[in-house]
Amino acid sequence: MYNVREITDDLYWVGANDHRLALFENIFPIPDGVSYNSYLLLDKQTVLFDTVDWSACRQLLQNIEHVLNGRSLDYLVINHMEPDHGASIEEVLLRYPKAKIITTEKAVMLMHQFGFQVDGRTEEVKEGDTRCFGKHTVAFVAAPMVHWPEAMVTFDTTNGALFSADAFGSFRALDGKMFNDEVNFDRDWIDEARRYFTNIVGKYGPFVQALLKKAGTIDIKIICPLHGPVWRSNLGYFLDKYDKWSRYEPEEQGVMIVYSSMYGNTESAVGALATKIVEKGMPNVVMYDVSKTDVSYLISEAFRLSHIVLASVTYNLGIYPPMKNFLMDMKALNVQKRTVALVENGSWACKSGTLMREFLESEMKDMEVLDDQLTINSSMNENNFEDLDALAEGIVQSIKPSL
Ligand code: FEO
Repeated sequence: MYNVREITDDLYWVGANDHRLALFENIFPIPDGVSYNSYLLLDKQTVLFDTVDWSACRQLLQNIEHVLNGRSLDYLVINHMEPDHGASIEEVLLRYPKAKIITTEKAVMLMHQFGFQVDGRTEEVKEGDTRCFGKHTVAFVAAPMVHWPEAMVTFDTTNGALFSADAFGSFRALDGKMFNDEVNFDRDWIDEARRYFTNIVGKYGPFVQALLKKAGTIDIKIICPLHGPVWRSNLGYFLDKYDKWSRYEPEEQGVMIVYSSMYGNTESAVGALATKIVEKGMPNVVMYDVSKTDVSYLISEAFRLSHIVLASVTYNLGIYPPMKNFLMDMKALNVQKRTVALVENGSWACKSGTLMREFLESEMKDMEVLDDQLTINSSMNENNFEDLDALAEGIVQSIKPSL
């Protein structure tokens, strides 16, 4: 059964929602699903902007057939070739034998790498090229590494719609709610939008900045991303988030405490630290057990907040493995410009604090690690209170100037 929405005159959403996939890219939990957005323009010529994941291909074909209503498909604009959008290209070409693909040279190369039969069906475009489909003229804008090297975005100069590929996307299925003004984005969507951006595109901040700079030169009225809601109002809200995230600036002053605790003693210590921080005037504190929280949520919070406390037990004379994994992921995704405080625990040969400090200072960019550090031997006792208080004071003092 078809399931489509009109976006604006001549333009329809013909994508699909996916509630069955447990792990996006087989790595990121998506408890609220995801949408694969595809858009169909009915002009003198008909144009499909991107396709969907293979698992949603049948839904896409039913939607296209319904909207075309007997017309043929003339063009398929591929902004992004990653299989969650590109996997259905071949099937669309088979169903519509006259359709031609418009895309970048690199995307054509990737289509061949993925084994797609597209010979004689592609037309390559580059930055600044335009195409007129009748009433609508579109311009193609290169967007390399947002999120793959072949990516481009397409701007419809007639109606101001930007087909933004992975940019401005979000996890979560749409479930009928197509537009940003049909959801409470700041309440229900922002966390999943941030988790999507930071984990998928977070590494490529400078490339996102380059795209934002180009976007600033055109009069965008509608943003049509490949995942999540279409933006037709309040664009500045989301552009501002993207600007902050891609510059690695925190959204809020606040403290994220990430701890590893095998028997509850480190958890107890950071619980006391959280209390002290709040007592000293910083109530924006959140705590996460690194063993229980998927690292994609931790990365998202690390982008949101200004301060991070890492509390790790010593394990095989090293950092507790899930904590090491979080550190490695922060490095991979370019997390930077954060203030970090350290808590270490070890029943003998306590080393995790020293090792975390070495990692932060030598492997990551612009991480300010506070000198004060709390060392626990097995469990907190009265002798640790002075250090705990000093650590809390150091954290709050480092926040206060910017409050
Ligand atoms: Fe949603 Fe980079 O693909």
